[in-house]
Amino acid sequence: MTKPKILVSRRWPAAVEARLADRFDVALNTGDAALTPAEFRQAFKDFDAVLPTVTDKIGSDALELTNPRTKLLANYGVGYTHIDMPSANAHGMVVTNTPDVLSECTADLAMTLMLMAARRAGEGEREIRSDAWTGWRPTHLIGSKVSGKTLGIVGFGRIGQAMARRAHHGFGMKIIVHNRSRIAADVLARYGAIQADDLDDLLPRCDFVSLHCPGGAENRHLINARRLDLMRSGAFLINTARGEVINECDLVQALAFETIGGAALDVFNNEPDIARCLRDSDRLVMLPHLGSATTETREAMGMRVLSNLEAYFDGQSPPDRVN
Ligand code: DGY
Repeated sequence: MTKPKILVSRRWPAAVEARLADRFDVALNTGDAALTPAEFRQAFKDFDAVLPTVTDKIGSDALELTNPRTKLLANYGVGYTHIDMPSANAHGMVVTNTPDVLSECTADLAMTLMLMAARRAGEGEREIRSDAWTGWRPTHLIGSKVSGKTLGIVGFGRIGQAMARRAHHGFGMKIIVHNRSRIAADVLARYGAIQADDLDDLLPRCDFVSLHCPGGAENRHLINARRLDLMRSGAFLINTARGEVINECDLVQALAFETIGGAALDVFNNEPDIARCLRDSDRLVMLPHLGSATTETREAMGMRVLSNLEAYFDGQSPPDRVN
């Protein structure tokens, strides 16, 4: 029997690439460079399934073709706002993602960022590396205490809840959540959490605000100048969700005028081109989109894609279908 032809858009963990090669007729992107819209259009003519990642902007231009051979877009990652869903739907393409397997590691990284920002870890590291540390003194690099403070969680899905578990049970933090739908009382009780009426109600009540909502048009610039103004003057903003959720110019202003205490970002608008004004801010901690970057999680994400492919090509509905 001929094997389905599939294209993997970036390098994946070797163990997963090997599993894919056993089961499918696989084209690997050994150069690991992001594909252009024209290359995607060609791929949609040549392959039965295409396996993109968050770095692949599959907009309407990439999907502007007739009768594509590709009927499955098996995304490697939980977020899929980089795929133009109306165009994919119009072609009858099934789209899948990789939920669950990255929740723990993404929450771990959000905790890392929260602690780094509050305890000025980035500044301290830079100081040592530039030979500027003159030794211990009572007034040196004084940060904010994290334990026992109030954490606002925006988006209370799997990752938001994993963050709440760490912060509440590990650091004794009080948790306030904002979510599109009502969260069941027993779920909130697990983390000693309360649900705010809306985002504007949550922001002034928190010492830390961590974003765990989806990106896309719906949440573009959810955090803007007006909402940054609602935050407490010493509060910190953490983003491991998607860059577009924050208006970066407004954030730079808030940091420059010290209307908030600081921020920590793992995701950016227009990655990997980070706006110069962000790089210049000492009150900002930045990591290069590392939320899911552990061996365990990146392999598990690949295996999750494999399960979706196997189900689809066995004629079943893939478990992580999103459309
Ligand atoms: C995702 O899964 O959407 C992340 O941003 C990449 O791990």
